[in-house]
Amino acid sequence: MSEETERDVVRGLKDVAAAETRISYVNPSGSLYYVGYNIDDLVGRIYYAEVAYLFLYRRLPNQRELDKFSSDLVSQMVLPSEVIESIRSTPKTCHPMDVLRTEVSHLGEFDPEGGSQTMNANMRRAIRLIAQVPTIVATLYRSRNDLPVPRPKDDYTFVENFLHMFKGTAPDREETKVLHRLMILHADHGFNASTFAARVTASTNSDMYSAVTSAIGTLKGPLHGGAGEKVMEMLDDIDMEEHVEEYIQGLLDDNKKIMGFGHRVYRAEDPRTKHLRGIVENLCHRQRTMSLYNKCVKIEKRVHDRKSIYPNVDFYAAVAMDALGVPKEFFTPFFCCSRVSGWAAHTIEQYEDAVLLRPSSKYVGEFGRPFVPIEER
Ligand code: CMC
Repeated sequence: MSEETERDVVRGLKDVAAAETRISYVNPSGSLYYVGYNIDDLVGRIYYAEVAYLFLYRRLPNQRELDKFSSDLVSQMVLPSEVIESIRSTPKTCHPMDVLRTEVSHLGEFDPEGGSQTMNANMRRAIRLIAQVPTIVATLYRSRNDLPVPRPKDDYTFVENFLHMFKGTAPDREETKVLHRLMILHADHGFNASTFAARVTASTNSDMYSAVTSAIGTLKGPLHGGAGEKVMEMLDDIDMEEHVEEYIQGLLDDNKKIMGFGHRVYRAEDPRTKHLRGIVENLCHRQRTMSLYNKCVKIEKRVHDRKSIYPNVDFYAAVAMDALGVPKEFFTPFFCCSRVSGWAAHTIEQYEDAVLLRPSSKYVGEFGRPFVPIEER
């Protein structure tokens, strides 16, 4: 008993390495590696599908492999009709993340491989999930707006199809470029909370749909992927650039967190921020909304001056998605559309590690309470 109570608690599991991984490395001094490649060498130079391939096969594809992988993804984008019906019947008032969480779980009922847990079956399952999560998001958005969902087209790439299915128009070249970058930057990030949740589920030898469902529920929270939506609420609240200082001061005086700022691992600027800031600057320039960009830069400066913290991925990504015409309640679902590649790869890696993730706890409750039968309580 005493041995159990003497354990030290590592609050929030801070700095605890729970397993080995070869998928991504988050360097506290401000860099991020995907399977050994610095993201700065990838962003703007490769397609999102190449990153998804890299996570699954631990190497970059050649052109022939990429073409085959992309066409496999496109061919798997169609959802079972029961899932489409279920998406259409969800109440318009519930959050899109609730629908996504349920429908990924629902996909598990239609797994064509009947729950086989071989490596090959899991690789195929990963490809299906990477392909179908964006279709769920597009189907939900379109059905909420009483619009038809276009079918995936063979002559579009995977990301072009996602844009096409979401927007219903031919994919714009600039928007496609932005979406590739956004999806690459969101694809994986070490043992973040949702990835850890996926790995805990996978560590029990449960199936990949269950692991990804756990991850989606975890990403939803505003301390994790749900922060992006809150960032947009803050930006909407600050009506003018001139009001930034007063607004931020008010939040800090009330001991409130500034959404889209701070990070558990980075002690320097998040390496994704410079790419996202650049994307937002270009989009705002193109759309003549530079006052929005200026507002962001001012918030960044004010928060850093006061708290010495930097924006995280959610700050500028929120503005980029807004500029792409994505409504704020769909920001976190968009995040899932690419993070699913990381979750799937981590799930497979966890199966390979074959160890149950099960920490202990420090019991701080009572001992020896006298039992009282119910009729005497
Ligand atoms: N606004 C104001 N102060 C902050 C913030 C913030 N956003 N983030 C951290 N701090 C302060 C915090 O008050 C604390 O100060 P002190 O030492 O004086 O008490 C110090 O910085 C350490 O913060 P912490 O909350 O103990 O750090 P953590 O590692 O437990 O939390 C975090 C990390 C991301 C949960 C936190 O920074 C936060 O809540 N940020 C806002 C929500 C957000 O943007 N989440 C997205 C996270 S990154 C992308 C993703 O995973 O989706």
